[in-house]
Amino acid sequence: MTISVTITVNGQPETRDVEPRTLLVQFLREHLQLTGTHVGCDTSQCGACVVHVDGKSVKACTILAAQAQGAKVTTIEGLAQDGKLHPMQEAFREHHALQCGFCTPGMIMSAVDLAQRNPNPNEETVRHELEGNLCRCTGYHNIVKAVMAGAQAMRG
Ligand code: FES
Ligand code: FES
Repeated sequence: MTISVTITVNGQPETRDVEPRTLLVQFLREHLQLTGTHVGCDTSQCGACVVHVDGKSVKACTILAAQAQGAKVTTIEGLAQDGKLHPMQEAFREHHALQCGFCTPGMIMSAVDLAQRNPNPNEETVRHELEGNLCRCTGYHNIVKAVMAGAQAMRG
């Protein structure tokens, strides 16, 4: 049995017939080929799969595609505008916050949500808020610096 799901992804309405058990992360990766959203665990712990659902960060491996029916989803592919990196992406590049890069998309999506809610986060807040995003390279120092710089850049 399949069900029809329509989700607006990066501004584009997308309708697919999927199995009811299809996770949002599978919908994005396997049905839309948006492979920037990563799967790093099977325990909802790593945060590599974070996307925005109606503007809020969500671990895309924890909800079904059907639960996002009618929602607006933004993935890492949707952050850059007019060929220009998002300020948070730029900050990660500038501050050498990319190591292997596997966790980076989820980290950036969480960081953008954080900066939207708290435009001036201190180091403690950033570390606390990014607890749900694991970097296996464990080099969190530059990631934290990048998130603070990205939040500042988003303030303009
Ligand atoms: S893949 Fe979703 S939290 Fe790890
Ligand atoms: S940069 Fe490698 S897992 Fe984070």
